[in-house]
This record gives sequence, C-alpha cells and structure tokens, in this order.
Amino acid sequence: MTLLNITIGLLLLLLIGGVLYWELVIAEGAHLGDKAVVKMYDWTAKRYDSIKQYEPEFETDTLGYPLAMTMVNLGFPRVLDVAAGTGRLARTLLPEPSFRGQIVALDLSYSMLAEGVATHPEPIDSIQSPADRLPFDDNTFDVVACLEALEFMPDPMQVVDECIRVLEPGGLLLLSNRRGWEARAIVGKTWTPDVLGPMLEAKGLFSVDFQRWQIDYDLIWANKRR
Ligand SMILES: C[S@@+](CC[C@H](N)C(=O)[O-])C[C@H]1O[C@@H](n2cnc3c(N)ncnc32)[C@H](O)[C@@H]1O
Repeated sequence: MTLLNITIGLLLLLLIGGVLYWELVIAEGAHLGDKAVVKMYDWTAKRYDSIKQYEPEFETDTLGYPLAMTMVNLGFPRVLDVAAGTGRLARTLLPEPSFRGQIVALDLSYSMLAEGVATHPEPIDSIQSPADRLPFDDNTFDVVACLEALEFMPDPMQVVDECIRVLEPGGLLLLSNRRGWEARAIVGKTWTPDVLGPMLEAKGLFSVDFQRWQIDYDLIWANKRR
C-alpha cells in the first residue's frame, strides 16, 4: 500500500466520521426519518432528564408561570404538549397554583412517555403518536406547545400546521426555535427569526413574538387568528 493510498483512506475515514457525527450527534438523526430519531430517544429515555438538567426555577420563570398566566381566565384549559418527551412542560405547569386544567403529553417515543409517567409526581395523560398526524379534532386545545423538537421532525412545517389545526381560534401556540451554529447544521429544518416569523403569520398566527430563552433555543409565543 502506498503512502497516497493510506492518506486517501484516512481522509475517507475522517469524512465518514464527520458526517456520522453531524447527522447522529448534532442533528440527532433528523434527516434519517422519524423512526431513527425515536429509536435514539428510546435508547436515551432513562438518562434524558439527567442529561438535560432542567433548572426548576428557570423552568418556572420562563415556562410554567408565564404559560399559566395566559390561561387564568379560562375555566378548565386543555393543553397539548407535542413531542413532550419526559413531560418537561407538565412538570413546570402543573404545580402553578393558578393552573386548573388538563395536560396531554404526546410523543412518538414510548420510552420517553413511560419515563415521564414513572417520574411525575402527578398523573399526566400521555399518547404515543407522530407529531405530524395529531389524533385530535380541529380546535380542541387552548394551548399547544412543541418544545425542542421541531427540528427533529421529518417535516417541521407539517407539525406546525397540525399544532395550529388542533388549536382553538385565539389559542396560544408555544414553539421553540433552534438558534446558533447547530441550527444552521440541521439543514432544511431550522429558520432564522426574520424568515420564520412571516412564515408563521402566513399560517394564520398573529402576535408572533420571539423571546431569547436558552443557549440553543428561542421561544416563540403566537396566537391563532379567530
Ligand atoms: C429534545 S426532546 C424534547 C422533549 C421535551 N419537549 C423537552 O423539551 O424536554 C425531542 C422529543 O421529540 C420526540 N419526537 C421526535 N420525533 C417525533 C415525531 N415525529 N413525533 C412525535 N415525537 C417526536 C422525541 O421522542 C423526543 O421525546
């Protein structure tokens, strides 16, 4: 084997390793379809919460409390958490004193849902389903959330359409939008706020508000037109 052959072999190995790292670690299999993504979450479900280390105070300040405040005038609000994972949203919303409603946690990974049910202090309703075909009638929920998940979907905009479909007119849609260099690496699944804002308005949302949230994500608060 010549030195040239060895060099080419090493470069090829590096290239393959780089592509695998990009797709499996950065994009979490986003371009390989929902089965691949969900398989990865099934594998990591038991470690998910310890990996993420969500800070309860930060969760309350940025999610639980402001979300509960949007529902204070609703009798018994129905909240849908799409791609709920281990129930992060329920964990911060249910303890809010002003919240008297129902939370439905939907995810395609059975293991993520099971982990949420097993570790939650209060019972939550969970449904295993793909996010791009929500098993609910139009206009069912007062609030629909989809956090840290859109970029892993086969078609993120189909998921947004489904979230809007099941949302009551006037209801609140809460999304996260990936930011930073990793967002650009998840090709075709993320948008900058100046592009995404008008896209969401064109889908019938108003008061679309981007808010700085975590290092990797903005939060988007928006309402469905009546
Ligand atoms: C990064 S986790 C976010 C979980 C939770 N929303 C949170 O903020 O902690 C992404 C979740 O999306 C779910 N997911 C990925 N693709 C999905 C799909 N096509 N339909 C439904 N859930 C999906 C995964 O199983 C995983 O639980």
